[in-house]
Amino acid sequence: MALLPILQHPDPRLRQKAPAVTVFDAGLQRLIDDMFQTMYDAPGVGLAATQVGVMLRLAVMDCAAKDCPPEPMVIINPQVLSSSDRQDMEEGCLSVPDTSEKVPRFNRLHLRALDRQGTPFEVQAEGLLAQAIQHEIDHLDGKLYIDYLSSLKRERINKKLRKQRQPA
Ligand code: NI
Repeated sequence: MALLPILQHPDPRLRQKAPAVTVFDAGLQRLIDDMFQTMYDAPGVGLAATQVGVMLRLAVMDCAAKDCPPEPMVIINPQVLSSSDRQDMEEGCLSVPDTSEKVPRFNRLHLRALDRQGTPFEVQAEGLLAQAIQHEIDHLDGKLYIDYLSSLKRERINKKLRKQRQPA
């Protein structure tokens, strides 16, 4: 397994819409394993393939509560069938480091996706898992959570990131 570099906003690759996964080969399994390792190492609760520069509709997640056994989940070609209970939820992103803001999300959703072998499954998600699924699907569509913020808030974050990148 290997740690993959995570693209940082404003990398233009984070703005691309990823095409569906059609091949479930050994290379895809290796990519998924590397993405899990990269996500746990960060640490984060979700990572989309687009964040490591791979343009495929694939994301890994683990929304297990602290001190609970891990609950690794792979979603491939995900499709939200229904969603409800809109709420403002605190959110961050490994591609927008050291910042978090409240964004509108659905607290419940019904998801259909493929697992890592290409087998379809459905899940009724709520809370953090529902939020993470929406966040990761946005990544696959080239969207970041900061897109939901006011331009003023977004510019404040962009400014902070530019400052962090400047050598001390
Ligand atoms: Ni993210």
